[in-house]
Amino acid sequence: MPFSSTTRQQLFQIAKAGCVVAALGFTFASNSFADDDKPRRTIAEQYIQDLKDGKIGAAGDDDHVVQELIIKRSIPITYKYINTLMNTPNAFGPGVACTTCHNSQDASKSYRGLDLSTCKGMIEGATEKPKHAIFTPGTNPKRDILVRRLRNNRMPLGLGFENSTYTPNHMLVKQWIADGAKNDDNFTKNVLPLFNSANAFGPDTPACTACHMSNQEPPSFHELNLSTHAGVMLGADSIAKGVDKATKVIIAGSPEKSFIWQHLSEDRMPPGISPSEPRDHPNTTILSAWIKQGAKCD
Ligand code: HEC
Ligand code: HEC
Repeated sequence: MPFSSTTRQQLFQIAKAGCVVAALGFTFASNSFADDDKPRRTIAEQYIQDLKDGKIGAAGDDDHVVQELIIKRSIPITYKYINTLMNTPNAFGPGVACTTCHNSQDASKSYRGLDLSTCKGMIEGATEKPKHAIFTPGTNPKRDILVRRLRNNRMPLGLGFENSTYTPNHMLVKQWIADGAKNDDNFTKNVLPLFNSANAFGPDTPACTACHMSNQEPPSFHELNLSTHAGVMLGADSIAKGVDKATKVIIAGSPEKSFIWQHLSEDRMPPGISPSEPRDHPNTTILSAWIKQGAKCD
């Protein structure tokens, strides 16, 4: 059936709008809308153009190549590469490959029943109770379990995986958060002294407040003050980001969502990696990009 004249007009409007977008567009992304008669700029040509225009930032940090040539140009990350990372030693910093320890959903053979050797296994996450996904395809995974385990050091800094995360002191903090993180007698008598004491969460470790003692960095890492109730509730980076946007480290009633609890109970992977290893490994950036792009399996 031929299009009615109104449909024809609507199509014409849409097509016109498309041309306006193409005409305005000068970025790499708009090339995919380029007219058929004009040859499409290749990604390499665009790169050379950006170099000439001075649009590529100054070199310096480890992640520079990944940022400039992969992330900013939206290069699709293939599952094949992700699979290689999971199977390769030292892929995120010194240590054995992830799939040595996480290679099936059989929790009697693979830690947490987590299978990082297949795409489906990565998406399904930990199958041992409590079962849960470790990221959400199509979203930024920065605060999700997978990326936390690659970036976040356990606290106190330097404490190894061989130390229990289930000590009575750990449980006191967890319960205090679960009960609403109040500024009550329990906090003053039982919880705050733990943050102020050496060896409270493991042997030969400094007190939390040796490193997180005020809102000034330096000397206090992340401008985090664990020496008072107000400081704990205010959170991190309150000067850098502003008091209203400070990173909350306590979500009252939800220990699992509270960064303090996450940092007390989760070891960075692979286990044994030194906290002095950079947290932003280029391959962590690529893994994150794959997830943001939808965690496609092909
Ligand atoms: C030497 C063995 C080993 C290696 C290698 C290893 N892990 Fe783990 N992983 C563990 C253990 C043990 C646990 C469970 C204890 C814990 O939660 O820390 C775990 C837990 C996890 C969890 C949490 C699962 C959950 O239940 O939420 C994730 C995610 C994870 N590992 C990812 C990785 C990644 C990614 C790598 C590779 C960089 C890796 N692991 C390498 C032993 C390992
Ligand atoms: C030796 C110094 C040191 C000690 C001791 C220490 N931390 Fe940290 N903490 C750091 C550093 C460095 C970072 C940032 C980098 C990282 O996470 O590895 C950090 C980050 C954190 C963060 C994340 C803040 C954010 O912005 O997300 C929390 C929460 C935290 N520490 C809590 C604790 C707690 C609780 C203790 C005591 C059990 C503790 N820290 C002991 C050095 C320390």
